[in-house]
Formats: sequence, structure tokens, C-alpha cells
Amino acid sequence: MSDRRHENHREDVAGRANVADTPELVAYYDDLARSEAGALWTVANRIEPWEPRSASVPMLWRYADLRGPVLRSLALVEPEKAGRRVIYLANPGRRDVVAAVGWLYSGIQVMNPGEVATSHAHSASALRFIMEGRGAFTVVDGHKMTLGENDFVLTPNGTWHEHGVEADGTTCIWQDGLDIPLVNALEANFFVVHPRMRQEVAHPVDNSTALWGAPALHPATHSWDRPYSPLLKYEWAPTYEALLRRARLDAGSPFDGILMNYVNPLTGGPPMQTIGASMQMLRPGERTRAHRHTGSFVYQVARGSGWSVIGGRRFDWKQRDIFVVPSWVFHEHANASDTEDACLFCFNDLPVMRSLGLWREEALAGNDGHQVVAP
Ligand SMILES: [Fe+2]
Ligand SMILES: [Fe+2]
Repeated sequence: MSDRRHENHREDVAGRANVADTPELVAYYDDLARSEAGALWTVANRIEPWEPRSASVPMLWRYADLRGPVLRSLALVEPEKAGRRVIYLANPGRRDVVAAVGWLYSGIQVMNPGEVATSHAHSASALRFIMEGRGAFTVVDGHKMTLGENDFVLTPNGTWHEHGVEADGTTCIWQDGLDIPLVNALEANFFVVHPRMRQEVAHPVDNSTALWGAPALHPATHSWDRPYSPLLKYEWAPTYEALLRRARLDAGSPFDGILMNYVNPLTGGPPMQTIGASMQMLRPGERTRAHRHTGSFVYQVARGSGWSVIGGRRFDWKQRDIFVVPSWVFHEHANASDTEDACLFCFNDLPVMRSLGLWREEALAGNDGHQVVAP
């Protein structure tokens, strides 16, 4: 007879599995195991929890801690050898799938002036959010884009892309965000290196923004038929302006303040099929109420300072810090300044949650909508 217990997940609740081990049952379970099978009632309560239980830990990575190690990598590896010179963010609950939270990967990439990484394509969708430096560029399917601080760039599923820094630029650092863990979980990931290692720039530089970046104006003729946004770069200046104009109207969401989603201008939907993104503003002194929802969220502080309470823990942040909110964990945000606004960039898996019918949201009841913070 096996010495393993099978009754660890019993629940004394009508409709839930509640079967005690007996010598006869354990012998039966052992027989099933020999046939690579099992009795559902021994695992049902574990694999069907009452509500989502994220394996991810709420985390904050301070840029002050990471910037030095990121810069050290410049002297240690060449981009040609590394493929991409990136330091990834390892959530202690998701190390096995190299996720920053849930099924989302994130890393910090650094390049020196004159460096260019190899052109490649993969099934994972990717984005970058520029943290510092001058002269960075990304080429996506022949569209070259110049990049500045707080610009948000897409490299959608299947596109040829490479990144570099112009020879007359400075050392550049940006955050990468990808759905690698999700695509691997779905066992659908392909990776291809460009046959010539570099792709041709096939269009005028920044043509995507010139064609599609004007607010509420589309080119009268176009041939865009891809399943992702034709606007591949969302620049910071018009984004910030949109937040400021929105903030003059009213308080926005009680849970997020002034939150604007980056969208595909053709559809109004998310910029890529699997990854959504937003920029939000917390006005001076603003403190939001707590809510929770399904989906995983990676934030970067684009501007200002403040704190977030995530799962009852307070995380203080300032510009360039990165933090994550796991699925179904209560969270609320606060701007620490009474004079300056704070802006949070965020990318997430909401398009997946929504398209699969898995989106759910709940406000925190009681305590004036705020969590009790752990000492
Ligand atoms: Fe890539
Ligand atoms: Fe939220």
C-alpha cells in the first residue's frame, strides 16, 4: 500500500470532493496510477479552487537596484553572443516559467551606441518601454522607429524585428514585455533568426506614427490587414497630453484615476492580440480604492513617485521602478506628491482574459475601500 495521502484536499462542503482514504481506496488509487490515471475526487478541489490562486508574488523591482547590474552586462557580454543583452525579472513564484507575473515575461535591455541586435521573429508578442538614453531604434517588418523616453513600441507576434542604438546616441535602457510564458504554456512558440541577420528598412523612418499617430484621423487609403495595430510606436508627448486633458474633466476611475488604454486605431481594441497596455495618471495627492480582477499586470513608473498596496503589502515606488499585480489580488495606488502627478505604464494579458471570457472584477468592500496594510 502507498504511504502517500490522497485526502489532502478534502472539503466538508456540499458539492465538493470529500472522500477519506481507506486501505481499499488507496490500493485502488495505486492501481489507477500504474495505468497513468487517477480519481478526480482526490485532486478536484485543488485543480478547481473556489477562486483564482496566483502562484505569482506581488513584487517591486527598484531601478536603483537593477540599473547598476544592467549596466555591468555591457562589459560582460556582446549582443551578438547573447542574442539579446537582457536582465529578466524573476518572480519567486514563477521561476519555472521565467515570468515576472502570471504568464508575462519582462526584462531590462541595454545597448551601447553603435550596437544592433540580430533580427529575429517569434510567436510571442513583444513590446518595449523606453527607460533612458538617446538614439535607440527598433525596426519592425521594415518600419524603423526612433525611440525616446517613455515611448511604447510594439513588436507583434511573427514580425521581423531588431533593436539598436545609433552611433551618435548614448547607452540606452528599455523594458521588454512579452507573453513568452503564455505562448510556451500553449505550446505554440516558434523562433526564427533572420536569414541575413539584419532586415532592410523598407519605409520612411517613423512612417507608422506619421500614418496612424494622429488622434481620431485615419489615412483615407491604406492596405493594413494585420491582426495588430498599424501604429507601432506610441509616443510619450501626445500620451501625456491626453492624460492631462482627460484629468481636467473629472476624477476618472475610483480604482485607477485617469487611465487611458493604448489601442489599435483601426479597431479600438488592444494593440496586439494577446497583450494590452495602458498609461494612467494619479493626480497630485490622489489615492485610489482597492479592487481585484483576473489578469496579470506589469507596471513601470513613467513619472513621479508614490506607493501601491498589493495583496495587503505596501510597495513604495519612484520613476523607472517596476512592479507587478498578480491575478485576483487586491491592489490600490497612491501618488506621494501633493504637487506633481504620477504616471504608471502598464502591460497586461487582458486581451486574453477578455477574449476567453475569463475577465472578472470586484471592488474591495468595507474599510472605505482600502486594504489593511501588513506591518
Ligand atoms: Fe524579439
Ligand atoms: Fe486594477
